[in-house]
Amino acid sequence: MTDKPFESLPRHVAVIMDGNGRWAKKRGLPRSEGHIEGAKTFRRIGEYAGNLGIRHLTFYAFSTENWSRPEAEVKAIMSLFGDYLDEALRRLDEDKEKGIRLRFLGDKSRIDPALVSLMDTVEEATREMTKVNLNIAVNYGGRQEILQAAQSIARDVKSGALSPEEITEQTIEERLYTAGQPPVDLLIRPSGEQRLSNFLLWQCAYAEFWYSDVLWPDFTEADLDRALGAYAARSRRFGGL
Ligand code: IPE
Ligand code: IPE
Ligand code: MG
Repeated sequence: MTDKPFESLPRHVAVIMDGNGRWAKKRGLPRSEGHIEGAKTFRRIGEYAGNLGIRHLTFYAFSTENWSRPEAEVKAIMSLFGDYLDEALRRLDEDKEKGIRLRFLGDKSRIDPALVSLMDTVEEATREMTKVNLNIAVNYGGRQEILQAAQSIARDVKSGALSPEEITEQTIEERLYTAGQPPVDLLIRPSGEQRLSNFLLWQCAYAEFWYSDVLWPDFTEADLDRALGAYAARSRRFGGL
């Protein structure tokens, strides 16, 4: 664990937790074992990042495209997610003491209603927390997120609550799953892939990208330190000079 302060800490770090399947394959294990290890890494890195003082953390756990995987794998991932929710409920008092607000980003309509009910309970119970905003993206797709924002705006225009001239970037932002949270400063993707895979399309407009060949289950606190160190050395210009 580091005790060195980072010169400029990103306000919002987003992580694509990729490489679980390859981690398992390398060991001759079923892919589900990779997801089990990946879930452990998520808990470890989430806690470490929160302790470092990163205020907004978003972890990509399941995409709108991941439904195309074999049913057994989808089931295994959802079951791990259920375990995490049970644990989050048991740990509510502890999390609240730490000031952790939990939110789930994505389209809940396709998720098992039993899980959605747990998700809603956890979100509601931590709503007042402000120290660490921990977002988990489940059945999340950046295009779907923008699409549902567009539909919401269209409904308001149709009802007369909003005129097309009044629509601003903020009108869109307040309808995204990340409403009220800052844009992504640093996007981390392990496992050697260098793509966004439909993650936080709007929010990553000016994000700094950091890639690593490490498979997510092997991702360590030192890897996060490296990403933060690289981030601190970047020059962000936002189109200016
Ligand atoms: C990320 O690991 C977890 C999910 C997408 C749910 P993968 O399962 O994509 O692992 P690889 O990319 O096949 O190694
Ligand atoms: C992105 O990983 C989604 C998550 C990590 C949840 P994928 O493994 O689904 O992405 P692709 O298919 O390699 O682009
Ligand atoms: Mg993958």
